[in-house]
Amino acid sequence: MTTAVSELPRPPLVKGLPILHSLLPIVRNPAKFVRDQYDELGDAFRIRALNRELTVLAGIEANKYMGVEKRELFTSEINWRAFTEKANCPHLLIGVDGDCHAYQRKLLKPYFAKNSLAERIPMMHEIIDRQVQGFDDAVVDVNPWIKNLMSNQVGYVMQGVEATLDETNAFMFSQNTIVNVYMFKRWPKIAMLNPFYLRAKKISDAFRDKLAIHNRAQQNTSFESYTAKVIEGRKEKPEWFSEGDLEAHMMLPYVGGVDTAGGTHSFILYELLSHPELLPRLREEVDAAYANGTPDYETLESMENLRGFIYECMRLHPTGFALNRNAAEDFEYGGYRIRKGDELMIFTTATHMDERYFPEPEKFDIERYREPRNEHRQRHVYAPFGRGPHTCVAATLAEQQLMVNFASILRYTNFETVVPLNKLKKKFSPVAFVSDNFRVKFSRRAV
Ligand code: HEM
Repeated sequence: MTTAVSELPRPPLVKGLPILHSLLPIVRNPAKFVRDQYDELGDAFRIRALNRELTVLAGIEANKYMGVEKRELFTSEINWRAFTEKANCPHLLIGVDGDCHAYQRKLLKPYFAKNSLAERIPMMHEIIDRQVQGFDDAVVDVNPWIKNLMSNQVGYVMQGVEATLDETNAFMFSQNTIVNVYMFKRWPKIAMLNPFYLRAKKISDAFRDKLAIHNRAQQNTSFESYTAKVIEGRKEKPEWFSEGDLEAHMMLPYVGGVDTAGGTHSFILYELLSHPELLPRLREEVDAAYANGTPDYETLESMENLRGFIYECMRLHPTGFALNRNAAEDFEYGGYRIRKGDELMIFTTATHMDERYFPEPEKFDIERYREPRNEHRQRHVYAPFGRGPHTCVAATLAEQQLMVNFASILRYTNFETVVPLNKLKKKFSPVAFVSDNFRVKFSRRAV
């Protein structure tokens, strides 16, 4: 006899302080906190922070549910509503479900396909090569440099426009303010009146206007911008692309990748510094790849050592370690009752540290990702780009970008950390990064 969902117990509640409950540890290091609770309580548990309650679903079953089996149980719309209302973009790709979302993904699929992006690899090289070739005993603050590199590069490749550091900081700060106030409710509403926010918003709006003008000027050239692709969708489905939606889309290449890809770059650099024993092998591969000039798509694809290194960093430091959703209906998970409307955190990367899928999970091992092991190819276990219908639309682009950038850094620079590595921490704002004291000295490498 099966028990009705309504009669099942609720997932166990993590013990915490009065009033604050688990607020402090979850703000300090959410990934570690959630992992520790998962190790203790298993695949489902509840966390309270002040008056909010999150139900965490973890383990391979959660990944299966998200991926194909029960994707209709989850909605993104509730979680993003406050943001999309405030930012006036009701059909924002990441905050919409169902037909509207499926239409946008279908529209964007050819744009983000491997063969279409392959043509843009020289543009990626142009940006990173110019920057690293300019490093001459330069001490670099890693986080601001990387964030700016991300928006320079993805902006140039997808929109034909690089953003300056000031513009990058401005649109990231104004977006993160809205996210922290309205979505995560970590900041009070008064933060929207903060003069820094108001200044950032002004710069961000001016940047968007500049982008619109540039986009019009590009219309009759052979360069297909991301905005042009979205305008194509708007002609076919005007009801799903309001003026506000279009404006939000125009910014997507800049904001979508700055933190997620930026954080990933910061961890890769950190791991390169932590594993000097792997550098000769990586450099040998990189130098061979440059033997006939700047590596193209096929050459990058064949670089197993660098790819293994990058994949291992994304296993150990997934910047999107969990996904926020709401339950679209009542359902059972791991013997517990999940109620319609529950705020959920799907801990999609719990499997990354599970020894059943990644033996000796604490060990940094770049061999995992090649024949015969191919540990990442086991179904549902490797999820640095998320799971399910909202899986990173730009995952292929991000992987190519990581390959191009680290090939270039390894080829053209020698690097050493200015701060002892044990003084560096993980920080979350809200995406994971190496802490802001991360500084690296780059010098020219003779090639
Ligand atoms: C290493 C780099 C990156 C990582 C680790 C990453 C990670 C993720 C994750 C985990 C999600 C799923 C979010 C969810 O389901 O709630 C996601 C979605 C998304 N990412 Fe990325 N991302 C990266 C790079 C980028 C870049 C460069 C862009 C922009 C060009 C981008 C644009 C997006 C968009 C638009 C979505 C939403 C897709 C949808 O809702 O259908 N990402 N990303």
